[in-house]
Amino acid sequence: MKTKFRTQLNTIVLLLSLLPVSGLISGCQPKDQVVQYHQSFKPGEIWVDSDSIHINAHGGGILFHDNTYYWFGEHKTEGRGGNTALVGVRCYSSTDLYNWKNEGVALSASDEPGSDIEKGSVIERPKVIYNEKTGKFVMWFHLELKGQGYSAARTGLAVSDQATGPYTFVKSLRPNQKEWPVDYPESMKSQEYKTDLKWWTPAWREAISDGLFLKRDSEEGQMSRDMTLFVDDDGKAYHIHSSEDNLTMHISELTDDYQSFTGKYVRLFPGGHNEAPALFKYDGSYYLLASGCTGWDPNDARIFKADNIWGPWESLGNPCVGEDADLTFHSQSTYILPIQGKENAYIYMGDRWTPKNPIDGRYIWLPLTFENEKPTIRWHDEWNLSIFEGR
Ligand code: DGJ
Repeated sequence: MKTKFRTQLNTIVLLLSLLPVSGLISGCQPKDQVVQYHQSFKPGEIWVDSDSIHINAHGGGILFHDNTYYWFGEHKTEGRGGNTALVGVRCYSSTDLYNWKNEGVALSASDEPGSDIEKGSVIERPKVIYNEKTGKFVMWFHLELKGQGYSAARTGLAVSDQATGPYTFVKSLRPNQKEWPVDYPESMKSQEYKTDLKWWTPAWREAISDGLFLKRDSEEGQMSRDMTLFVDDDGKAYHIHSSEDNLTMHISELTDDYQSFTGKYVRLFPGGHNEAPALFKYDGSYYLLASGCTGWDPNDARIFKADNIWGPWESLGNPCVGEDADLTFHSQSTYILPIQGKENAYIYMGDRWTPKNPIDGRYIWLPLTFENEKPTIRWHDEWNLSIFEGR
């Protein structure tokens, strides 16, 4: 009841804040200043912000801080080159999850030639977490250096004293240089492999599983492409990323300030070819949602479960149910948002990519709930948070 009242109050406050003052005084608004007001999610449709502009926060993630949700994502631009970082990472804020205020560019792509985050680099899937000990907001993101395609496979760090930024770029790196995964058998560390094995052959698969690429990248650091962050109940944070040429996902522990890697990490399903990770916790267990690797094209989602973040992890299959479940409803995962103050209430956040015109990419937000102990995502043309009521 209290929550319901607070939600209604928040809605009224937000509604008032969205009305231009001149409109209130004169009793009417000029037509071109009409602000859209949302009371539901409409997956796949244009979703406008408080400036009536399609939200530009792709591959995003959400930080909940001081009763406000902050949505960070890739600012895409028009046309073929629109996936490169010409602007940076954009931030929006909301108290009701339907209506988002444009908070501007949180991390700007740099004008400085040679900077790791130079305009024209690739900055993807930014995620922000708050560090209680340092009071800093910590952003990590997938970084590809300008002009190098997707070969750099680095992770980038930026920090700020405010949730909305501006964030200052700190460094980029390949994690876990010269470190072995925690569960990597001693006997395999010195094992050698042929390096010219043909991809996808049984011998190659076996070598990948045993650590062919892990060893190849040990000197330079492990590859880090699609990524997410997760903060556990004990305050420990983890960086989860597609590694080993996207063949194997790694879960890596971050230091107490969240700004470095401790060197402790584990490999998940070597050779499983998973990307687009999103990790959340329910009833003491960890769930990792991912996609397969088909570039910008959608494929079937898959979800994994573990009682300990270091494993063992088991596969629960595809959480999507119904028509187009095999294509994740034409989307790819980016984040799972736990709804504050509710049990068994999550939002699946996905991207419907439009690589020919990246700025037109759409957001697929759908309810995720546990049905018979299995995380389940179903399509809805339109829905709102009342769907979680009574759970
Ligand atoms: C799929 C990834 O999930 C995206 O974030 C992006 O890296 C594209 N691949 C690039 O093809």
